Amino acid sequence: MDRLTYSTLRVRRQGSVLFARIHRPEAGNAINATLVHELDDVLTRAARAQHTTVVVLEGLPEVFCFGADFGVISDAVRTGRDTSFDPEPMFELFRRMAYADVLTVAHVRGKTNAGGVGLVAACDVVIADESATFSLSELLFGLIPAVVLPYLIRRTGFQRAHYLAATTQTIDARHAHEWGLVDALGTPSEALLKRHLQRLGRLSKKGVARYKAYLRELSPLTEHTKDVALATNRRVFGDPDNVRAIRRYTEEGVFPWETATRDATAAPPSQPSPPPQPSPSETTVEPQHQRPAAPPRPPALSPRALGSPHFRAAHGVDYAYAAGAMYKGIASVDLVIALGNAGMLGFFGTGGLPLDEIDDAITRIRKELDPGRAFGMNLLNSPDDPDLEDRTVELYLRHGVRSVEASAYLRPTLPLVRYRLAGLRTDAEGRLRQDHHIVAKVSRTEVAEHFLRPAPEPLVRRLLDDGLITPEQAGLGARLPLAQDLCVEADSAGHTDGGNAYVLMPAMRALRDRVTREQGYSEENGVRVGAAGGIGTPEAALAALTLGADFLVTGSINQCTVEAGTSDEVKDLLQGLGVHDTEYAPAGDMFEVGARVQAVRKSTFFPARAQKLYELYLRHDSLDDLDARTRATLENKYFKRSLDEVWEETRAHLARRSPARLAEVERSPKQKMAHVFRWYFVHSTRLALRGAEPRVDHQIHCGPALGAFNTWVRGTELEPWRGRRVDVIAERLLRATAALLSERMAAYGALAAGGTPSSSDTTTAE
Ligand SMILES: Cc1cc2nc3c(=O)[nH]c(=O)nc-3n(C[C@H](O)[C@H](O)[C@H](O)COP(=O)(O)O)c2cc1C
Repeated sequence: MDRLTYSTLRVRRQGSVLFARIHRPEAGNAINATLVHELDDVLTRAARAQHTTVVVLEGLPEVFCFGADFGVISDAVRTGRDTSFDPEPMFELFRRMAYADVLTVAHVRGKTNAGGVGLVAACDVVIADESATFSLSELLFGLIPAVVLPYLIRRTGFQRAHYLAATTQTIDARHAHEWGLVDALGTPSEALLKRHLQRLGRLSKKGVARYKAYLRELSPLTEHTKDVALATNRRVFGDPDNVRAIRRYTEEGVFPWETATRDATAAPPSQPSPPPQPSPSETTVEPQHQRPAAPPRPPALSPRALGSPHFRAAHGVDYAYAAGAMYKGIASVDLVIALGNAGMLGFFGTGGLPLDEIDDAITRIRKELDPGRAFGMNLLNSPDDPDLEDRTVELYLRHGVRSVEASAYLRPTLPLVRYRLAGLRTDAEGRLRQDHHIVAKVSRTEVAEHFLRPAPEPLVRRLLDDGLITPEQAGLGARLPLAQDLCVEADSAGHTDGGNAYVLMPAMRALRDRVTREQGYSEENGVRVGAAGGIGTPEAALAALTLGADFLVTGSINQCTVEAGTSDEVKDLLQGLGVHDTEYAPAGDMFEVGARVQAVRKSTFFPARAQKLYELYLRHDSLDDLDARTRATLENKYFKRSLDEVWEETRAHLARRSPARLAEVERSPKQKMAHVFRWYFVHSTRLALRGAEPRVDHQIHCGPALGAFNTWVRGTELEPWRGRRVDVIAERLLRATAALLSERMAAYGALAAGGTPSSSDTTTAE
């Protein structure tokens, strides 16, 4: 149990006590289905565990829990999905907190609202510090805290619970203590908690279990209460007026009784704080239709609202955010799982891995990812080894992989088209279903156009003839773009054309619009244009969104995280990188054609040595042409072995992989030289992945986005890479981007209204 990982909780054990911290900072620690499921899982395991007697539920310092996640409901409305959410798991969770065979302790700091109050009220013991506040905001939206009230009434009595629900009043920790919602109050609450745990920790499992069983009998929660609570909850959440009110609030920051958006005072990411009201000891209660006086503030956008809802729906994610593949499993299984569980898309880095390792990776991802969560795989064009691409697609079809990131394609290939078309079908109601989604990485418009158009007819015919797709799939494919997501890659890590996002994005979007008109694609079946390259700060992410990006893709910043599958030595170096510490160098896999990658230049000679090798290749026709000094430099400094030894190793490899290719290479001294030089690229990658000496030869693909990120997080807990979890940095980035966007909108709104725009100088990563 000690090492359980959850996406919405941070769980740790200390002796017989299990601490579960709600961790959804991007959503005000709001309750979603995953949180309910995960918390329930923690309690179930704790109740069963032999030595666990106490579960402490905590939140963030500023917010314990803000109630149901309105963002999810609003997203569901926008994307036409079912908005009704099943209240039963939440009811059962509260019941488990109150009655399971462990003692539950709520440690409350900051705000608690709506369902969060239910979590607190259901606990056996509630400890709070003076920053804690409590409110039930449901009635503001026509909702009823139906699942919360049975537990709240047990603590405060009927009238006080009724008062809180009806007035939507916020009460402070002192009042909550007086009313029985909080059992012990003190600041700092950690000391208070510690004292309580010292006592509770001494209790035996058997004693606790018997005691809780007795409480179940003494003060049972009847099935009637449950039925009424669930029916009421379903009725209010199923009411279209309420759903509309929630959506209007989340998207425009407007309360139901308001008509304009300009004076919205508060729009937190989940449920709203009820408007400020007098303390309960005062007698006047402001009428709800009156807007409380407060400085005008823009509605704070939810990070989930960024980008395209169609992207989120197609890939089954909560955020229009993806982490691009990084070869040889640098975009690792752990990285993909962490992002998937956080509602984002991670593409596993298949480049350079044998098929059985890719197979294992998918199996592990499938096993360890939470049910219903998304993941993707890289699909690389491999013109030198078409069979590999073929077998990779076979594997993806077998595993039911739903999203692939298609890289290095100049034009569509048979396996790629097969993957796309094999995922098309019509369901029982005659609606089109697309089970396979291609995110096509492109940096040139002529390549993009191939993906924007339907799959080429000759390839479709071949697939039909070979019986690899059905006539229905061929017909459906003719009406749809080959890829529904175009990821426009500007100056970035790894292979790149060094493009400029300001130039590429408008050009690609114009192309997309033209092809969409020509093909007559509907909005739902149209192509989304995403942005990759250079995204490492909120400013960059916002710039990409302003350029029209429907989704964001990062790369470099993810290589310097706990989950990345590279060496600690590389991460140590990466965390200190600045924006000028990368440069372009020849690419090993496309050495002869002069393709280039962007790589780290700080503390490594790789870019300079790779460049030197490429120049030698251009100047000479054979290894025999190299003068003695050059040869000695290569052997002593670059290769640390003789060129003959390098050739022997290369020859043995080619003999295993492709004897025909070996025969060809042996006939051409220039090709032989290229292969010997290419050995250096393979070798320098291996050194980096293993963190091995000599470090000056480490080949580390990276773009300047990481330097920008490093600057942004300086002085925060994200500065050392060991503090960087791939999902946390993504959430932090998106949250700051949403905040920045709100701020910019407010500044321009003020300008439009004839005022002076207020703008902050920098965004913070905290
Ligand atoms: C170490 C590293 C390895 C990469 N390997 C691949 C790869 O195998 N396939 C691929 O499509 N993109 C690869 N990329 C590119 C990323 O997926 C992503 O598109 C790019 O890094 C985004 O730009 P940024 O680095 O400026 O954030 C790699 C990037 C890095 C940093």
